[in-house]
Amino acid sequence: MQDLGGRIGVVTGASAGIGEAAARELISRGAKLVINARRAERLAALKYELESSHGEGCCTVAAGDCADESVINAMLDQAESAFGKPADLVVVNAGRGLAGSLLTSDTGEWDEMFRTNLVGAAKLMRAAGERMTGDVTPETWTDRAHDIIVLGSVVGRHVSPFSSMYGSTKFAVHSLAEALRREIGPKGVRVTLIEPAVVLSEFQAVAGYTDELVASFGEKFGPVLVPADIARAIGFVASQPPNVHVSDVVLRGTRQDYP
Ligand SMILES: NC(=O)c1ccc[n+]([C@@H]2O[C@H](COP(=O)([O-])OP(=O)(O)OC[C@H]3O[C@@H](n4cnc5c(N)ncnc54)[C@H](OP(=O)(O)O)[C@@H]3O)[C@@H](O)[C@H]2O)c1
Repeated sequence: MQDLGGRIGVVTGASAGIGEAAARELISRGAKLVINARRAERLAALKYELESSHGEGCCTVAAGDCADESVINAMLDQAESAFGKPADLVVVNAGRGLAGSLLTSDTGEWDEMFRTNLVGAAKLMRAAGERMTGDVTPETWTDRAHDIIVLGSVVGRHVSPFSSMYGSTKFAVHSLAEALRREIGPKGVRVTLIEPAVVLSEFQAVAGYTDELVASFGEKFGPVLVPADIARAIGFVASQPPNVHVSDVVLRGTRQDYP
């Protein structure tokens, strides 16, 4: 299905999990992508695999810390230089969790988590928003969709006392996504918030969840989501006609009641 043919995208956090699955989904549907994460060797392997299946030139790598403004500008510049048009599909995905509550989480991880999940996400949303609003005009916005798709979380919608510091980064991201939607939606740029519940990925290990905790998710409300489930939703959002905006998507495994 080539319904994203002609779209030029950027996906952060594409070396694993949801970002990697989103890169596969969007490229299989015809988009051309700049993929970002810090592990350059993982991105090179993904580019090789995607180009083997979907043809040379469907993908280019911009490795580095996506909270760094020079990396953000490099990814967006690279989209235009590699594919001949500015990016019209930016997936603000890179992020990390943190086990524990306000009282029990590791304070040594707080700054880095806020930098990646909130400040870095905000910088990319701003840079993408500036460029996209410069790229659309009142006459042309219905010709080609422009999307900024942001990964929030169900713990950015419902307070979870068990992952409260992580959840607070997502509450902040949710408010920014809605604020940006109100700011630039009227100019023809769609800003979408995707709010997944538990998705099995590297997220749990990076956050410091114990194996027992991860196993308990499966027992309590499994089967839980996998990255491809979220990637399909991202593809669905991006493939709507330019005048249709699916602005908020909450995805849970069917048996997950909360959060
Ligand atoms: N998994 C879940 O249960 C879940 C639920 C709700 C929301 N989410 C959100 O979904 C997003 C993706 O999560 P995931 O499950 O796919 O996690 P994951 O498997 O751990 O993948 C995270 C990705 O982000 C990249 N990354 C982390 N920090 C980065 C940085 N500073 N610069 C560039 N890349 C960075 C990682 O790559 P490198 O290490 O190579 O940089 C990796 O590619 C996150 O925003 C997360 O908060 C996840």
